[in-house]
Amino acid sequence: MGKKIVLAGGSGFLGKSLANFLLGKGYQVVILSRNSAPLDGQIKYVQWDGKTLGDWASEIDGSYAVVNFTGKSVNCIYTKKNREEIVSSRLDSVRVLREAILQCKQPPQAFVQAGSLAIFGDTTERCDENAPFGSGFSVDVCKQWETEFFKEALTTPRQVLLRIGFALGKDGGALEPLKKLVSLNLGGTVGSGKQYISWLHIDDLNNMFLEAIENTSYSGIYNATGPTPITNKEFMKSLRNVMGKGWTPPAPTPFVWLGAYLFMQTEPSLALTGRNCVPKKLVDSGFTFQYTDIEVALKDLISS
Ligand SMILES: NC(=O)c1ccc[n+]([C@@H]2O[C@H](COP(=O)([O-])OP(=O)(O)OC[C@H]3O[C@@H](n4cnc5c(N)ncnc54)[C@H](OP(=O)(O)O)[C@@H]3O)[C@@H](O)[C@H]2O)c1
Repeated sequence: MGKKIVLAGGSGFLGKSLANFLLGKGYQVVILSRNSAPLDGQIKYVQWDGKTLGDWASEIDGSYAVVNFTGKSVNCIYTKKNREEIVSSRLDSVRVLREAILQCKQPPQAFVQAGSLAIFGDTTERCDENAPFGSGFSVDVCKQWETEFFKEALTTPRQVLLRIGFALGKDGGALEPLKKLVSLNLGGTVGSGKQYISWLHIDDLNNMFLEAIENTSYSGIYNATGPTPITNKEFMKSLRNVMGKGWTPPAPTPFVWLGAYLFMQTEPSLALTGRNCVPKKLVDSGFTFQYTDIEVALKDLISS
């Protein structure tokens, strides 16, 4: 049997994709979820609450690596209650996983955390790992998340945090609503269109997680995004091209606010702001990207 990797919060968009990728590499996968689903093909589900130690912690002992994807989706309206849950679900899961690791007889060799490029705020300046942080709620969430993850320096496991960009995949994530808008002939430039999208193909992201798990030289914080960020205007044009749609009128900012709140039940800033991030540490460490051209990436995800 292959080595075991535990994916906390692995039932979502990124976790499910990584789980299937790891199975293909010969690993055993255990997903920690608040819902009980005894067995999903070769994936074992174990129930936890994301905040208190329980029987689930025995899965961590003797495992090869732990990857934490847990967090209430940020794709919602930022009410007080939602904001609190966005923060607590992230901080609590990091804390309780650390507690579980600290009580292991055989600790995993890697503890990998899904973080976010949102820490850089809304900026068109190029951001590598050392760029200044932005300001606002999402930035504060990311700062608290990273601080919690590195609060206690663990000798074993090695700790890696991937600040993930705009991950493009087949089943879910941010591409789904955009595809829907384009198919309804509503996929024009969003707002000014000057906000950047630091995108990456999910195959590249899965390989980044694999490196973080297996490559013992990986440590600390990485911008987990592609090397070719583009503006929203360029992104929407490429998406329309790939979906066979011609020019579509832009969606002005007030229209986006209304549409986000009334129809999509989400936070308008998710579409109206952006960041221009580059994966400097990954490039320096020799990581090879499969997808650097947006149209090639979108064709792969949409046409196949
Ligand atoms: N997708 C992206 O492009 C992207 C970009 C940057 C950062 N990230 C970050 O990467 C992580 C994973 O992203 P994703 O797209 O896979 O998210 P997702 O599909 O929403 O999955 C997150 C998982 O977290 C668990 N969860 C949700 N609310 C929770 C709560 N209140 N308490 C405990 N567990 C909770 C859920 O698992 P159960 O319901 O099974 O318990 C859910 O499946 C998130 O932290 C996200 O912020 C994602």
